[in-house]
Amino acid sequence: MAEVDQAVDLSKTETGEGGNGHLSSSVDRNSGSSIGQKSTTKRKHDDEEEDDGSPTKKQHGHGEKVATHYNTLQETGLAARSQSRIFYMRNFNNWLKSVLIGEILDTVRQSRRELSVLDLGCGKGGDLLKWRKGHISRLVCADIAAVSVEQCQVRYEYMRKRGHPNERIFSAEFITADCTKELLTDKLKDPKMEFDVTSCQFVYHYSFETQQQADLMLKNACERLRPGGYFIGTTPDAYELVKRVETLDSNSFGNEVFSVTFQKKGDYPLFGCQYDFNLEGVVNVPEFLVYFPLFEEMAKKYNMRLVFKKTFSQFFEEHIKNDQHKMLMQRMQALEVGINIHYQSKVWTPSHSRVFLYFFFTFFYIVKLIV
Ligand SMILES: C[S@@+](CC[C@H](N)C(=O)[O-])C[C@H]1O[C@@H](n2cnc3c(N)ncnc32)[C@H](O)[C@@H]1O
Repeated sequence: MAEVDQAVDLSKTETGEGGNGHLSSSVDRNSGSSIGQKSTTKRKHDDEEEDDGSPTKKQHGHGEKVATHYNTLQETGLAARSQSRIFYMRNFNNWLKSVLIGEILDTVRQSRRELSVLDLGCGKGGDLLKWRKGHISRLVCADIAAVSVEQCQVRYEYMRKRGHPNERIFSAEFITADCTKELLTDKLKDPKMEFDVTSCQFVYHYSFETQQQADLMLKNACERLRPGGYFIGTTPDAYELVKRVETLDSNSFGNEVFSVTFQKKGDYPLFGCQYDFNLEGVVNVPEFLVYFPLFEEMAKKYNMRLVFKKTFSQFFEEHIKNDQHKMLMQRMQALEVGINIHYQSKVWTPSHSRVFLYFFFTFFYIVKLIV
């Protein structure tokens, strides 16, 4: 894949207790490592930045690197995608999101018919079809990567054009913004607009570069939610990642498809705890650990309370028992040949380890309290 790293000189890595002062920071007591240790480490990247005057140049820090990476990712057609080594992973991932999104829309629809959704970090619009199937009324798509947002919009227009004349497809609005640094309310056509659901799939971890960024993204996710509205998301599981790297001599793990490389072992600050995630041909960008108890505490500021947090494997084990979900999984070709739908994760062999990546992810639902 094209390496599109831009220069970043992170002059200072934010650290601290996240303002809560009492969170347990221990992750792996046996290894003696912890998330949340104070660190004065300065991180420096040697690569040089080139100013090409693109819209993403407004971004600073890793946001710019992330935007550039996603902006330059090529849209691949179905045929190319099906040949990709990560074909099943993408499908599996899409299956999980379809179930998650379907469930949350069913829940909120019990109290409201017309649903509005914010897709925070929408990318190229990978979830548009899920919103269509969920019969929502309005969608706001926001992402830091301008090219992705444009492609998302094109995809949406195409979907509308191709839709059945009798089908009422949701209206949509598209915003390019670094959602860790810019307030979406200032960019919405109707700043008073309210959402029933904010969905943040595989995005929130980019915000944990600093406390301010994590807080602003949380604000964007929650401030325009209606009471009773949900913020749902998927983020890498910090416990799993740290546990895994701490069992090894190296600061990196992975397989032929993905790798996770920590800059430093044994020291995992609450914010700015960077690791590089490389997924063949799809992602090659710095990410940051999200220490979940801290995220949960931070969300309380916006009247949000955790409903559930589940690992992919827990979610999978629970939902695959449902025949409809199982059929959907087969239709979506979400399991690799040889991986039986009745598998038990503990008997998986290393040959299944591509999908194993998913055991590093966690889903969450948090709800806005009715006060
Ligand atoms: C792994 S992709 C996920 C895209 C989409 N949510 C999905 O599930 O298909 C991560 C997305 O997060 C976006 N992103 C990263 N940092 C962001 C930020 N600070 N503000 C807004 N979007 C961001 C990236 O541009 C990218 O589109």
